[in-house]
Amino acid sequence: MTFIDACFKKPTKHTPIWMMRQAGRYLPEYRATRAKAKDFIDFCRRPELATEATLQPIDILDVDAAILFSDILVVPLEMGMKLEFVEKKGPIFHDPIKGFEDLNRLSKDAHNNLGYVYEAVSAIRKELPKDKALIGFAGSPWTLATYMIEGGGSKQYEKIKKLVYAEPTFMHLLLKMLTDTVKEYLLMQIKAGANAVQVFDSWGGALERPKFFEFSWKYMKDIADYIKEKSPETPVILFSKGVGAYMDMVDGNFDVYGVDWGTPMALAKEKLFSRYALQGNMEPCRLYSKQATEECATALLNMFKGENGYIFNLGHGMQPDMDPAMAKFLVDFVHETSKR
Ligand code: CP3
Repeated sequence: MTFIDACFKKPTKHTPIWMMRQAGRYLPEYRATRAKAKDFIDFCRRPELATEATLQPIDILDVDAAILFSDILVVPLEMGMKLEFVEKKGPIFHDPIKGFEDLNRLSKDAHNNLGYVYEAVSAIRKELPKDKALIGFAGSPWTLATYMIEGGGSKQYEKIKKLVYAEPTFMHLLLKMLTDTVKEYLLMQIKAGANAVQVFDSWGGALERPKFFEFSWKYMKDIADYIKEKSPETPVILFSKGVGAYMDMVDGNFDVYGVDWGTPMALAKEKLFSRYALQGNMEPCRLYSKQATEECATALLNMFKGENGYIFNLGHGMQPDMDPAMAKFLVDFVHETSKR
């Protein structure tokens, strides 16, 4: 598989590309599948619908990898938390975690309650063409904890950051619990047929440098160590958003560093490319202009010309109002331009 070869820095016939949130509302086909479900959680819990949504970007865009259609928040959901996705507002937990006493109500067995995800993974793998990879994923312990403690999206992260400084012992207990679950969850996705796994740390950048390494990166590395020990042939991708200025992620046992759009790719290349394959990092909003897209794609492909271990991606997720034709233009452009 082209994508997997690139993860291991092997030569490929073209630069592989996939896009974060490639299975989403910008596709009319996704909206049609979504309409068959009662709500977003029901959608995630129905393997036949998840399979349909996962395969759409492969058929429509010809990307080199499919990412499992699911959500990072199914983990706290199956730990027993009351989750709702509110239209136009996003996810809400009605029973946020406040302190030690709340840990008792979190199931330590969530990875065994996520059978619908593993079912979707095996169904997708069966239907995917042989040369297309399937990426499984999970949220990072830190990013999951922000939702569980803030009760939803947040601008200032005041609740969790208070705990980081005032109750670090509690925070580490919760993060350790999430880490144990995410390890098993990813391993079970691999056993079901996922060819690679990505850990999404969307809110890593909420932490100052020393706290980022202590409360987020450390646990992501633990997860990577575990997966690489149990399944060395499966690439592990770590993606933290908003930490480009820290650039000290040189000691991890993982394969691919996901670069967000706020980090200059040249800097990531200089600091990290000798150790990891790199994935990223076009600013997603460039997809609103063909010229802006072409300009950035050309620059990124030139930067990695003749080198192995580069995967084209966006520096964060696609937006619902983006044009599928632009996404297709980008995929074709990357494939054509990088052909050897
Ligand atoms: O194509 C893909 O990337 C596949 C599936 C995927 C979804 N969510 C589907 C989804 C993945 C990998 C995620 C990860 C995810 N979910 C993250 C990490 C990546 C990132 O974007 O930073 C986070 C933070 C979440 C939590 C989440 N889920 C939020 C904040 C929201 C609401 C915001 C929004 O975009 O509406 C969701 C809902 C969600 N997850 C949607 C999709 C396609 C949209 C919901 C819908 O269809 O109604």
